[in-house]
Amino acid sequence: MGKYEIAPSMLSADFNRLGEQFQEIERAGVNWLHVDVMDGQFVPSVSFGMPVIKSIRKESKLFFDVHLMMVQPERYIQDFADAGADMITVHAEACTHLDRVLQQIRQCGKKAAVALNPATPLCVLDYVLEKVDMVLLMTVNPGFGGQSYLESCTGKIQQLRRRIEELGLSVDIEVDGGINKSTVRTVKEAGANIFVAGSAVFGGNITENIQELSKLAEIGR
Ligand code: DX5
Ligand code: ZN
Repeated sequence: MGKYEIAPSMLSADFNRLGEQFQEIERAGVNWLHVDVMDGQFVPSVSFGMPVIKSIRKESKLFFDVHLMMVQPERYIQDFADAGADMITVHAEACTHLDRVLQQIRQCGKKAAVALNPATPLCVLDYVLEKVDMVLLMTVNPGFGGQSYLESCTGKIQQLRRRIEELGLSVDIEVDGGINKSTVRTVKEAGANIFVAGSAVFGGNITENIQELSKLAEIGR
């Protein structure tokens, strides 16, 4: 398992002041930026794509954790790699040939991760867990920011951490959806180490939010 990180989700940022807000999260000690790409098909909503990522890449040294909520992501892996992703996460539910897509990401020289929706069982990871850097466990049904954490996910995080330890792997567990001051401790204790937070970071005072979340998750700054 790698370090503990807060990964602010840019979906909840003010799109008119992206550069400024990214500088603020960096100054507050954040290393990761969670970048949510939605295609209007895998999930109901549409967000943004390669041109936006390319443009923010020029201004930021943050680690770009790109979460592809799209069908057939294999069509665009090279484009997201070229746009500036450091890690690319694809949904198991969206890939007919998951193993091949993960290889594609690696061939682009990027870190590879797989995401599971809340209702998707952990057994879909059986033959790929050794080939990923991270597993993203959705803790809400993907599509929108600002939803409530699904309690049923806590046991799933625990089970996955146990499995990773049994196999002696060093795979990160990222949790995404409804992570805030009330839930961050629960998911950390369950075994997650990368905490995506959208509304809990960008709603209100960004620096204070990051400080409080870091304190609750006991992340040294
Ligand atoms: C949801 C996205 C999330 C979202 C999280 O489909 O994948 O990354 O931005 O937002 P919050 O933290 O507000 O639940
Ligand atoms: Zn996400």
